[in-house]
Amino acid sequence: MHNAVDPPCPSVAWLDGAFVDWADARIHVDTHAVLGGLNAYEVIAGFWIEDQSQTFLFRVAEHLERLGQSARVMRLPPHDSTPQELCRITRELVARNGYQQDVLVRVVHYLGSGPVFSYRPEEISSGLFMTAKPALAKPPIARGIHIATSRWTRLSDTAAPPRVKCGANYQNARLAQIQAQVDGYDDAVLLNAMGKVCELPLANIFIVRGEVLITPIVTSGILEGITRRSILELAAELAIEVEQREVDATELYVADEAFACGTGREVWPILSVDRYQIGAGEMGHITRRIQDHLHRIVRDQGPHREWLSPVYPAAETEHEGEPSPTKTSQTSDRSPRATPRFAEQAGDGRGSAGRPDR
Ligand SMILES: Cc1ncc(COP(=O)(O)O)c(C=O)c1O
Repeated sequence: MHNAVDPPCPSVAWLDGAFVDWADARIHVDTHAVLGGLNAYEVIAGFWIEDQSQTFLFRVAEHLERLGQSARVMRLPPHDSTPQELCRITRELVARNGYQQDVLVRVVHYLGSGPVFSYRPEEISSGLFMTAKPALAKPPIARGIHIATSRWTRLSDTAAPPRVKCGANYQNARLAQIQAQVDGYDDAVLLNAMGKVCELPLANIFIVRGEVLITPIVTSGILEGITRRSILELAAELAIEVEQREVDATELYVADEAFACGTGREVWPILSVDRYQIGAGEMGHITRRIQDHLHRIVRDQGPHREWLSPVYPAAETEHEGEPSPTKTSQTSDRSPRATPRFAEQAGDGRGSAGRPDR
């Protein structure tokens, strides 16, 4: 277990077309990514399955699709890699770091240097970097959190569109989360300009009323979360009735259950809002069914294998004498030129070819 204060450095990152040593993964201070947080980015979860010596990345293609949409809205000049290459690089980056634990891969399409507010590639540069870091141990909030309605209003589609995952947007989220923590809560829920429920600073929200699962509609000012989308699909499979609609702020006070969801922590219950206890003040049964179902999928015992991309090659195809990245310690090979094997996977990252025996 790594200390959050002093985490060990990854070995390798990806920067503008090449794997580089972690220490060399730098961009200049005079870039708009640094000066204004101008980027489009994604965070992709990788789940380490001990008994298969395998890491599975969750819904890579969907994350990369959203990355493209964010870059388009932000009018970022294109970077050099195709989506297919990005899928491959994502998996190879995890393999090169030799992780044997859950990871978070960050893919950042950034705006480089040039005249401020330029957007033409001939005027302003752009690039792409990727990092893969160990996921922090799940905090106790997995047991449940207490949140407050934020005094900060969620960004609006007519100002800084919340469906865009851009670094600069997260100042709004940061203000809300810090304020909640200063006030003694675990986190915040933000409302939109109409006073309707949006989401948490870094997560989507669901509530349950009676036996109906309810979540704010995508036009409420939310990030269109990939975990959220997955949960909507899973709820249908579990025959749970779902409503996507506007949610009044006071509906949170009368909800029977509520939970937050997002990459890295999947589903975590909300136990109170503004000190109004939700339901029995513990995880409700619909939340638990969703959490269990998603957990089975990402831990690779359940359906939806097409959501999972394996990082390492199948055990039965390993070549004798060739060190397997699954056996590589994080510090044994810090050369970005070393090419450990990783799961070759055709296409756009959907599917799970190369899965080891189970
Ligand atoms: C503002 C916001 N909403 C929702 C989410 C959840 O999205 P996803 O499930 O795609 O991680 C995130 C994830 O970081 C987020 O930043």
